[in-house]
Amino acid sequence: MTAHELVAKVKNLPPISQAALQLVNLLDEPAVSNEDVVQVLKYDNVLTAKLLRACNSPYFGLEEPVSSVDQAVLILGHHQILHIVLTLAFGGAMAVPLTGYAVESNELWRHSLTAATAAEHLAVNGIDMNADPHVAFTVGLLHDIGKLAIPDHILFKPGKLTSEEWEIMQKHPEFAYEMLSPIRYLKPALPIPYFHHEKWDGSGYPLGLRGEQIPLEARVFAVIDVWDALLSDRPYRKAWTVERTLEHIGSLAGSHFDPEAVECFLAVIKTER
Ligand SMILES: [Fe+2]
Ligand SMILES: [Fe+2]
Repeated sequence: MTAHELVAKVKNLPPISQAALQLVNLLDEPAVSNEDVVQVLKYDNVLTAKLLRACNSPYFGLEEPVSSVDQAVLILGHHQILHIVLTLAFGGAMAVPLTGYAVESNELWRHSLTAATAAEHLAVNGIDMNADPHVAFTVGLLHDIGKLAIPDHILFKPGKLTSEEWEIMQKHPEFAYEMLSPIRYLKPALPIPYFHHEKWDGSGYPLGLRGEQIPLEARVFAVIDVWDALLSDRPYRKAWTVERTLEHIGSLAGSHFDPEAVECFLAVIKTER
């Protein structure tokens, strides 16, 4: 069973629309124009509505809300629109039907977008994410997409997971890899979803890699992932302060995290505060 079939079975999700798949494939085309993207979107009202909602979410910080696809493509550029479609096609399926919330108010979406922005930012600042900053962004956005395949009673359980439930939860990086690997464009950054839960000392998952066996971009992303998780409210704890979070991350250098990745991350964060 493929990851997609598994997800459809577990979550009873609608299939990804033809238009979304067509658009995702455009990412693999070297010469795409704004027009190409607008053309495909014209035939899918549902996807268009979701796309406009996502574009108008506070995360994109548009000064004026966009009301048509042409406008959205013109302002954000077709590349970014394709990224959003990719996320909606895969990640949006995770946000909307499961929680009933609009995609822009979902915690998983928020976490993914923050982590993606940070990944892109580090890539732009020369912290080697081993991929183009756009790709780092998109893959960051989709790093937890494998959670789509985790049953709701485990994913949204307010209390502690049992050891069996934890074992299932730990499969989300492998599911993410399976789901994203058919998209050629994302290949350079696939270690991010696959290895973001590996730990420097070898105690992580899915493979228990240690030290430099873990690809660099995944070592850097692991720091980003924990940083954002600690700064946000969880059902079982309140968000930590920035100081406490940064101190904690520093304390995990050499055990959970690559000390060099921590150093780079802290340097970038501190210059910005
Ligand atoms: Fe994860
Ligand atoms: Fe995450």
